Amino acid sequence: MTQSASLPLSRVPDPRDAPVLRWAVLGPGWIAHRFVESLHRHTTQSVVAVGSRSPERARAFADEHGLDRAHGSYEAVFADDDVDIVYIATPHTEHLANALDAIAAGKHVLVEKPLAVDAAGAARIAEAAESAGVFAGEAMWTRFLPKFDVIEQVLRSGVLGPIHTVLADHGEFFTTDHRIYDPALAGGPLLDLGTYVASFAYSVLGAPETVDARSQPANDEIDGQISALLTGESGHAVLNTTILTNTPTTAVVCGRDGTLTIAGPFFMPGPFTVALRGGITLAYDEASGLQVDGLHLAAVEAARRISVGELESAVHPLADAIATLEIIDRIRDRIS
Ligand SMILES: NC(=O)c1ccc[n+]([C@@H]2O[C@H](COP(=O)([O-])OP(=O)(O)OC[C@H]3O[C@@H](n4cnc5c(N)ncnc54)[C@H](OP(=O)(O)O)[C@@H]3O)[C@@H](O)[C@H]2O)c1
Repeated sequence: MTQSASLPLSRVPDPRDAPVLRWAVLGPGWIAHRFVESLHRHTTQSVVAVGSRSPERARAFADEHGLDRAHGSYEAVFADDDVDIVYIATPHTEHLANALDAIAAGKHVLVEKPLAVDAAGAARIAEAAESAGVFAGEAMWTRFLPKFDVIEQVLRSGVLGPIHTVLADHGEFFTTDHRIYDPALAGGPLLDLGTYVASFAYSVLGAPETVDARSQPANDEIDGQISALLTGESGHAVLNTTILTNTPTTAVVCGRDGTLTIAGPFFMPGPFTVALRGGITLAYDEASGLQVDGLHLAAVEAARRISVGELESAVHPLADAIATLEIIDRIRDRIS
């Protein structure tokens, strides 16, 4: 990776230096494969077990990734004394129950985004983890990427001047056989893709004063596209998320003195520019990457925090995950 000398350097430490935890994966689906591959490729973390509702699916996943133990139920994962932390990769609707069960068994948890289907559920996970004295975190992997550490430094430096506008979009076309079309699994774009744009807007502008939104249905049961306007004292965020089309998936932060433009897909590794008024443009030149190039960063953040007795991430605290879900709750209120 090369980057302009005029931009700050990423402070994200080498993922291979993190203390090693014994991980179990819950729900061997699409993201679980990428998570384990990412850990194996980029870290020294030890993935020791997988849990599935089906012994056959657990065995197949364990064989594919070379894991020691294949548990044919989630309960067996929670009862496994040689597991430190459970990565919860089930659909959003299951996160709350799975996380509470893991926490009750004394396990640390790293939960896929969104932490729960609403802010109240996310707060329950946070409270349960705090009472049990275990780590809980949301695997909002974007927040842990080196480029977002650089973006955070740019925003905090004030070089953009007062920030008035955030534009963020995440649209991906899905066929109707995907779980995102299943109303029983909280289908629609809001919790899957909308989490990224809401989280991004929150990270730049904080909690909005007003939230407005409109939706276009995908069918009689779920939303296909949602556009939202968040307003606050300092500025506006204009957000779009859809499962009906592939959109540019860019994010832009506009200040009086400059504009930061994150190329799509903004939530993955990749480049961004800072165009300052007066004509100077700074470029962060990073090759585009996929989940396998970044999921591990949320895991090693958890490992580092746990090793020093901390119960949540400072990079992406539980309060941020809850605040993002509060925005999502307010969007849902406006469209339902
Ligand atoms: N970070 C990212 O880039 C990213 C990308 C995609 C998804 N995600 C998140 O990861 C989570 C899982 O998404 P996915 O795409 O991996 O889903 P998926 O492929 O459907 O896998 C989910 C797994 O959960 C288990 N499961 C437990 N209860 C279930 C239920 N009621 N219905 C269906 N499956 C159930 C299933 O495994 P067993 O039945 O074998 O236990 C299934 O394989 C979601 O919350 C999503 O938001 C994150």
